[in-house]
Amino acid sequence: MNHFLDLWPIPSAELRSILNIAKSRKAARKGLPKGTADRDAPLAGHTLAMIFEKNSTRTRVSFDMAIRQLGGSSLILTATDSQISRGETIEDTARVLSRYVDAIMIRANRHADVVALADAASVPVINGLTEKSHPCQIMADLQTLEEAGLTLKGARIAWVGDGNNMANTFIHAAPKFGFSLAVATPAGYDPDMADVERARAEQGRIDLYRDPKEAVAGADVVVADTFVSMGDKDADKRLADLAAYKVSGDLMRAANGGAKFLHCLPAHRGEEVDADVIDGPQSLVFDEAENRLHAQKAILEWCFRR
Ligand code: CP
Ligand code: NVA
Repeated sequence: MNHFLDLWPIPSAELRSILNIAKSRKAARKGLPKGTADRDAPLAGHTLAMIFEKNSTRTRVSFDMAIRQLGGSSLILTATDSQISRGETIEDTARVLSRYVDAIMIRANRHADVVALADAASVPVINGLTEKSHPCQIMADLQTLEEAGLTLKGARIAWVGDGNNMANTFIHAAPKFGFSLAVATPAGYDPDMADVERARAEQGRIDLYRDPKEAVAGADVVVADTFVSMGDKDADKRLADLAAYKVSGDLMRAANGGAKFLHCLPAHRGEEVDADVIDGPQSLVFDEAENRLHAQKAILEWCFRR
């Protein structure tokens, strides 16, 4: 049994095998209706509980369809209508759910709660986004880039905008997959510097910039995300401070010719990205969203591997 809380403790070869499972399952079920299980249904009889303390469209639907396609079923708990919002401890929640279900996916306000849940659970726990990281998303992102023909090892990826949970997760992935990462943020919006140092210590190349044009120079991929993440309180200030970090057509032209554009969605056209970029030919965002399903299946399968 494995937890999928962050990329850090997972060896590169295992992460590679997750990407390979995602791609081979995607190919193997081509043509099947989406609600039909994969032929081998490896998680038949298994139930996934999903806990949401924050909103979600992709994570919720992709995990629900993922467990169904693996032959299992899911149930959803929102924090507000369970005892979590009335103060039941995360450890007791973990112990109780472990008696009913076979795996737990949680989208949490506090990363520490996900770690506590995993420590107390006797079933696999998956991080479906916290304020610190979003490891399920990056697996879909990397699958999408490989399917678009990019070799991750030696590639240059540029992150432009807020140094948020997704930026941190790209930093985690850089040494694991061997791409170099350029991160452009304004002062006050830096990514987690402990993560930057750890990635560098693990031979990852992470270059920090203030100027988005400098960051995207030589980039094969440009990545944006919302300027106001779930839980951020200072929306007006963020939109003002980050306005110069919008990914425009001009900025894409400063990257390598044919550079790909990624965004985990939901997007705000005109804020962090212009419509002609996200809806244009360089954008992979809907393949990226689709691959959440395939990546989630691979992560679930990996969680039950001994
Ligand atoms: N990208 C992503 O996690 O989307 P949701 O918030 O809709 O789950
Ligand atoms: N950074 C965003 C990602 C949403 C999927 C947030 O945390 O809200």
